Parts: sequence; structure tokens; C-alpha cells
Amino acid sequence: GKVAVLLGGNSAERDVSLKSGGAVLEALLSAGVDAQAIDIKGSPLDCLKRVEFDRAFIALHGRGGEDGTIQGLLECLDIPYTGSGVMASALAMDKLRTKYLWQGVGLPTPPFVSLDCGEVDDHYFESIVARLGLPLSVKPAREGSSIGIKKARTLEELIEAYSEAIEFDAQVLIEKWIEGPEFTVAVLDGKALPVVGLSTNHIFYDYDAKYLADDTHYYLPSGLSEEKEQEIAKLSELACESVGCKGWARVDVMQDSHGEFWLLEVNTSPGMTDHSLVPMAAKHAGITFEELVVRILEDTIA
Ligand code: DAL
Ligand code: MG
Repeated sequence: GKVAVLLGGNSAERDVSLKSGGAVLEALLSAGVDAQAIDIKGSPLDCLKRVEFDRAFIALHGRGGEDGTIQGLLECLDIPYTGSGVMASALAMDKLRTKYLWQGVGLPTPPFVSLDCGEVDDHYFESIVARLGLPLSVKPAREGSSIGIKKARTLEELIEAYSEAIEFDAQVLIEKWIEGPEFTVAVLDGKALPVVGLSTNHIFYDYDAKYLADDTHYYLPSGLSEEKEQEIAKLSELACESVGCKGWARVDVMQDSHGEFWLLEVNTSPGMTDHSLVPMAAKHAGITFEELVVRILEDTIA
């Protein structure tokens, strides 16, 4: 049957998705799959109704594409799609609630507080610093590609970072800063691919470091000892399993100066651009981009 590659979307990660989707479409076509791109712009239902197709490859990122809404629409239309279902997609999009879940099942995630647009007074920020220390990481709860994320080294920077993050989402996550190094783990059918280590000259692995910079370093193999590599792989598999992910996902993890790992988030529709990490990890495991895309497609949930 015909495969629609859903790309673009209406989120702040639209440009990233256009690149991911373009690469996915090209790979499907070269694998001989009957595929076509559908740009989700404006009303998703109207976009989907314009084309006849039997399965969807979701290459959308962020709200509206990775958060369970398009997944729910496809369920209602009875069209099988790649990746996680409605619940896991919605949960993983929300970093805050993902962390509550991980805490609940005993998986390590940095200490945090959440703030919505209601509670903004300086004493509250002071109490956060008293509780979590400095620096802090300030994030919109439901964004991707590090959009809206800032490191706060002082109380003043915390207040400023909060006021920037709240522009992106009505809920802001304030998390203890873990200096790193950062690692990312692609999980395919419940099994971790080789771990990728990251280093950047930026303050952290931000949007520019992710997609634009050529001074971001990727470590494959990760540089971890075999024991530590196994530990982070297992942790990432559990992180996905606890959220209920299906097919494929990517877990972002920090390591502190004592060597301990801390889960940051799980991405249920990871980037597939030429700078992206899941394709890099797959390649290291001997899986070509084309094979990876076909494998993800074959895992489509009916
Ligand atoms: N949110 C971006 C696309 C990622 O996680 O790869
Ligand atoms: Mg993300």
C-alpha cells in the first residue's frame, strides 16, 4: 500500500521536521516503497483528507505531531502509523509528567520543580534556588530541539530564563543542572543501539549545536566503559518501556561528575536530519539509513 510521510507541521520544530521528512521520503523511495510526502500545515485533518494512503510514517516533531494528537487522528481514521501510540506520545512530549513517572518507577532524573504562568514572585524563585541550588536548567515543558531552554547561573538569570521559557509553553520545568557529558541512546524495538556521546563548545547541546554548528563532536563509540555503556543502555530501555514507547525513540541522558546517569527526556519522533543522532547510532550498528527507515515503517502500529 501507499505510505504517507507526514512532515512539516505547525510546531516550532517545523524546519527540522521538513528535513527529517525529506530524508525519510528519499530513503523510502530508494527502497522501492510507494511513498509520498504530506506537509501538515494548518488543519491536520484537511491535510490528511487530501491524499489517499494506507500507512503513515510520522516525521513530525513537537506539539501537534509528536504529542499524541496526530496519532489519535490516525487512530480515528483507522490508518496505521509509525512509532508510539497516543498515550506514550502525549506523555513523552511533556517532560514534567515524564519525570513524575520516572520518579514513580524509581528511574533517576534530575531534581526539579514546575512553574506555570500563575505563580511568579521573586520569593518563589529564591525558594527554588534554596532547594535545587545553581545552576539550573529552565525548559518549556513541551518543546523540542532545545527551543526555549536556558541555563541559569544566578537568581536573576533564573527569573529571566523563566520569562523566556513561558513564552513557549504555559508550563515551565526548572531542573538541577547536570554538567555532563551528555549521551543519547536510540532505542529500536525495545533494544538500545550504540550510545552516542556529545560535546559542544556551546553552553549546552542547544538548537545551533544540534543542527547548525560544525564544532559539535559526536563520540561513537561513546567513550564509556563497557560496564557503563551497558548501564546507560539498560536505563534507556527502561525509560522507554515505562513510558510505553513503541517502535523507536531516543533517550537523552546526562552523566554527572560521579559517573551517575540522569534521564532528561524521551523523544518519540526523533530527528532524522543529516545531523541527527538515531541515524548515526544505527550506522554504527551496521544499519544503513534506508534499512533504519524501512525497519521503523515495518513496526507500524495497526
Ligand atoms: N526534537 C528533535 C527533533 C529530536 O529530539 O531529535
Ligand atoms: Mg525532545
